[in-house]
Amino acid sequence: MTEAPNPARMTPDPTAGLEGVVAATTRLSHVDGQNGVLILRGKRLEDLAGTISFEGAVRHLWQDLEIAGSDSLPAGFGQARIAAFQVVPLLEQAPPGLSVFERMQLGLAALPETNRPGDAATITGALPVLLAAAHRCAAGLPPLAPDSTLDTATDPLRMLTGVRPPQSHVEALNRYLVTILDHGLNASTFTARVIASTQADLKQAVLGAMGALSGPLHGGAPGPVLDMIDAIGHPDNATGWIGGALARKERLMGFGHRIYRTRDPRADVLKAGLKTLGADNPKVQLAERIETAALAALRTAKPDRPLETNVEFYTAVLLDAIGIDRSLFTPLFAAGRTAGWCAHALEQQRTGKLIRPSSRYVGPPAA
Ligand code: ACO
Repeated sequence: MTEAPNPARMTPDPTAGLEGVVAATTRLSHVDGQNGVLILRGKRLEDLAGTISFEGAVRHLWQDLEIAGSDSLPAGFGQARIAAFQVVPLLEQAPPGLSVFERMQLGLAALPETNRPGDAATITGALPVLLAAAHRCAAGLPPLAPDSTLDTATDPLRMLTGVRPPQSHVEALNRYLVTILDHGLNASTFTARVIASTQADLKQAVLGAMGALSGPLHGGAPGPVLDMIDAIGHPDNATGWIGGALARKERLMGFGHRIYRTRDPRADVLKAGLKTLGADNPKVQLAERIETAALAALRTAKPDRPLETNVEFYTAVLLDAIGIDRSLFTPLFAAGRTAGWCAHALEQQRTGKLIRPSSRYVGPPAA
């Protein structure tokens, strides 16, 4: 008798980008793409973002992993920021052409070994200080030392500008960091898990995940979203500009998703953050008009493929509204998502199993 095929063992279409393939089990987060729901370790995103500090959300996510020091956040992140400032001179000496993102990777690589319990906090705490220092170095400004008494949403804003940020900006950044904390087995998290499965050092998993995040189809999208909003410039131009882009077969940044077949819930959480920020500036109104025009155009252009607003559209609008330069959008994404990457890396390492799929050879036969 022939056995029914085991779906978990069936060979996926190798050209389909692993779509629909289940490659890990996790207690960390679940993306329900049909219903537009994101669950972070048993809680819906909407019940966390806007109500909990970033540190509280990280504690919640890390709870089952028994990461040393996670009970003492935010103090642990504050200490990690102080420790990370030791590597900042290296960022100052970096070649001038290096981007903020690359300087952050340089600083992360220079941290001492990160294979002890608790190093998830060391790395997650380090990224914001590397980001602020990298930005100031790239701008030819002296880096500012961290203040370990401040929290993760406050201190990076202060280190970027030298001024204590307004509370409304802190709350908006906190909302953003909680919103992007973790998101199932996306491309960068998968990368982190693959690296961790080799039992490599934790910072190597984060470095690799950063590389995967940086592309425009993933975490590199919000800068181009703002470029698009600026290029459109006025609501009356939206339909024509978008129609032209789609006619040229270009992708509209900030729309579409591999998993969501409906609206990305993170887009609404960030849009709600704009309301609490009182951001009724013309750029926000322009963005809303562009979103409406883009969704209408995508429905016409791709009637069989639901293409809705994703997290990156309102990431760009929210971060711009609190004065963050577009060159820092992807670095900030990495800084917040690091907590999720570390959690997935540790979860993967605990399985003790190397991730090693196969490829289908289509090259010439051996001569
Ligand atoms: N604009 C126009 N067309 C689109 C878009 C878009 N934003 N997204 C998908 N499509 C079209 C594709 O051109 C393709 O059309 P075709 O079948 O005629 O060739 C079809 O929809 C399916 O696209 P795929 O790339 O196969 O779908 P996939 O699930 O792999 O894509 C992705 C997901 C990469 C996010 C895509 O929607 C995209 O490129 N969006 C724009 C970039 C972006 O916003 N990235 C951020 C994603 S959120 C995040 O990673 C945090």
